[in-house]
Amino acid sequence: MKKLIIPILLILISGSLKAEKLESPSGNFVLTFAVDQGIPTYALDYKEKPVITESKLGLELKDAESLLSNFEVASVNRSTFDETWKPVWGEVSEIRNHYNEMAVNLNQTTSDRKLIVRFRLFDDGLGFRYEFPEQDSLIYFVIKEERTQFAMAGDHTAFWIPGDFDTQEYNYTESKLSEIRGVMTDAVTDNVSQQTFSPTGVQTALMMKTEDGLYINLHEAALVEYSCMHLNLDDENMIFESFLTPDAVGNKGYMQAPCHSPWRTVIASDKAADILMSHITLNLNEPCAYDDTSWITPVKYIGVWWEMITGKSTWAYTDLPSVKLGETDYSKTVPNKTHAANNEHVMEYIDFAAKHGFDAVLVEGWNEGWEDWFGKSKDYVFDFVTPYPDFDVKKLQSYAQSKGVRLMMHHETSGSVRNYERHMDQAYQFMVDNGYNAVKSGYVGNMIPRGETHYGQWLVNHYLYAIKKAGEYEIMVNAHEAVRPTGLCRTYPNLIGNESARGTEYEAFGGNDPDHTTILPFTRLIGGPMDYTPGIFETDISQLNPDNTSKVNTTIARQLALYVTMYSPLQMAADLPENYKKHLDAFQFIKDVPVDWDNTKVLEAEPGDYITYARKEKGTDNWFIGRTNDENARESTISFDFLPAKKKYIATIYSDRKDSHYRDNPKAYQIMKYLVDSKSKLSQYCAPGGGYAISLIEVDDTMSTKKMKKM
Ligand code: NOJ
Ligand code: CA
Repeated sequence: MKKLIIPILLILISGSLKAEKLESPSGNFVLTFAVDQGIPTYALDYKEKPVITESKLGLELKDAESLLSNFEVASVNRSTFDETWKPVWGEVSEIRNHYNEMAVNLNQTTSDRKLIVRFRLFDDGLGFRYEFPEQDSLIYFVIKEERTQFAMAGDHTAFWIPGDFDTQEYNYTESKLSEIRGVMTDAVTDNVSQQTFSPTGVQTALMMKTEDGLYINLHEAALVEYSCMHLNLDDENMIFESFLTPDAVGNKGYMQAPCHSPWRTVIASDKAADILMSHITLNLNEPCAYDDTSWITPVKYIGVWWEMITGKSTWAYTDLPSVKLGETDYSKTVPNKTHAANNEHVMEYIDFAAKHGFDAVLVEGWNEGWEDWFGKSKDYVFDFVTPYPDFDVKKLQSYAQSKGVRLMMHHETSGSVRNYERHMDQAYQFMVDNGYNAVKSGYVGNMIPRGETHYGQWLVNHYLYAIKKAGEYEIMVNAHEAVRPTGLCRTYPNLIGNESARGTEYEAFGGNDPDHTTILPFTRLIGGPMDYTPGIFETDISQLNPDNTSKVNTTIARQLALYVTMYSPLQMAADLPENYKKHLDAFQFIKDVPVDWDNTKVLEAEPGDYITYARKEKGTDNWFIGRTNDENARESTISFDFLPAKKKYIATIYSDRKDSHYRDNPKAYQIMKYLVDSKSKLSQYCAPGGGYAISLIEVDDTMSTKKMKKM
C-alpha cells in the first residue's frame, strides 16, 4: 500500500505544480510558468542566470472575488511570430519582431471566470499581459490593485526615481535596492504623491545591474485605457510589486471585458548596449494605425522658449496679476517689455531658422491666458485660438512660409484637461487654417478634474485621445508632462515627442546631475523619444537673467553629443540665436546632424557612466557619433569598423579640451578634422560632464582631402 501512495502523492504534487516552459528564439531566455496551489507564478532565466525568480501574478478586484488564487490551467496555446517592419521614423529603418508566444488559459475554480496570461519571449527579453476574455461571469470590473510581482535574485544596483503620480522630473539616484528606503526618507519627504507609496516605490522604466554583470530593465508597453504602473519594493525579499496610479476616489482601473492590461516588460542582457538596442517596447505595440503617413516628418526646430525658461522674458503679455479670459480687452492693456512672442522678435527667430536650415520655430506665450494661469477660474484659462495683440498669426505665418520655415504651435493646458478637450477641435482646426502641422502640448500643475493625476487611467485616455484627434487633422504632437511613453509611437507615429522626464529646462532651475544623460537612454527612452531640448551653449544662466544663478552642468561638446545620444525625431536647438552666433563653428554640428536614421550602433555604454552611439543618417552614407560622459574624466576608445570597407570619410570631431570641465570651464572645446576609414580607431579624452560629437561625411570626387591628416 505504502509503495502505491508515494507515487500517487508525487503525481498529485507535480500535477499541481506542472510547469510550462517557453524559450526565446535563440534559447537564451527561458520562462517558467506554474500554478502553485492555485496561484499563477512565473520566473525568467537568461543564459541560466535568474532574472526574475518565482513571482506571483494576479489582480485584486473591488467588490468582487479577486483574480489572485484558485486557478487551474485549462489549456496552453503556443505559437511563433517573425516579421520585419519599417517604422515611419526611427533609430533604424527596419525592426525585427521575433518571439515565441505562450498563452496560458486559466480558470478560476471558485468563480468559473477565465483569465489569460499571454507571454511573448524575444531574444532581448519578455513581455506579458493579462487578458480578460468575453464571459458571462466577468463583464464590468474595477481594479483595486494589480499584483504582479518581479522578484529579484539579489540586492542589485538600481537607477531610480521615486514613485509619483504627477511628475517624472527628477534626477536619478544610483543605489542598491536595499538603500532606496534610506535615500527616499532623506530626500523626498516633501513630495506629496510619494506619501501614498511605500517608501520604496519607484517609477519605470527601472534600470538595474546585478553583481555578476547582468543588466535588467522593467517597464511597460502599450499603456492604453489603464493606469500607469509604479513598482513597490519589498526590500526584505527584493520583490517588486506593481502599484497602479489611483483615480480621485482611489480606484485603479475601470474595465469591461473583453479587454487586457498593458504589457509588462523585462529586458535583460549581459551587455548594457543590448538594453539600449532593444525594440521590445515598440514590438509589443500595434502596427501603425494610419494608411498615409506622408504628413509625419521628423523636425529640427528652434524656439521662443529658453528666454522664458531662464526668466529673461515672459510668456505673459502684461504684468497684470490675474485677468480672466474673455473679460480682459488685451488690446487696451499695457504690454510689458518682456513678452517674447511678439511679431518683431518671432521674425528674428524665423530669419535665424531659415538661415541655418531649421524646419520650424516654436513660439510659446503667443495666446491669451498666461496672466491668469493660477487664477481662480483655472478651468477656463486658455482657449488655444486667441493670440495676444502683438502676435499676428496670419502675418507671421506668411512670413515663415516665404522663408521655408514652419511655426510650431504651443498648447499649455495648465492641467485643465476638460477645458482642452472642449476646445480641441477648434484648436486643431485653427492650426490647419494657419499652416501649423505640429503642436507642443503641456500639462503643468494639478489636474482638473480635481483629484485626478497625470498618470491615472483618466489622463492616460486623454493623452491618447489628443494624439488620435491630432491625427485626424494631420497634426504631430510633442506632449510635455504627459504619462511616460510606452512605445505608442509605433501605432501613432504622429506622437513625435514627449518630455515625461527631467529635461534641459532644469538646467535653468538649479541643474541636472552631470550623469543624467548617461541614465536617461536606459530609463525614460526605453518607452520612446524624448524632447530633451539640448544645445545650450551659454552655460552661465546669469548671462541671460542676472537673477538666475543656475549653471548648466555640461560642456559645450557634450551638448552637441546629445543630438545623437538622446534619440528623437524631434530635436530642438534650445539656446538663443545670439549665443549660437558666438560659436558658429560648434553650431555647425547642430546644423549638420540629422533627426532620422537608417542604422544605430552602441559603441560604448554603462548606465550612470557613459554612452557612445554611432548612427547612420537616413538615406545617405553619412554617420554621426555622440558620446555623453558622467562627472568623471574618461578616455573613450572606439573603432570605426561600422563604416563600409574601403570608403573614406572626413571626420569632424567636436570635443572637450584637456582643461574643459562642466563646472569650471564648460565652454572650452576643440574641433579637429581627420580622414578615417573602417580601420581607424580613436582614443578621445572626455572631460567631467563632457563628451564629444563627430560627423562622418563620405568623401566624394568634389572634395580635396590632400592636406588632411589620417587618423
Ligand atoms: C513646462 C514645459 O516642460 C516647458 O517646456 C514649457 O515651456 C512650460 N511648461 C510652459 O508651458
Ligand atoms: Ca516639464
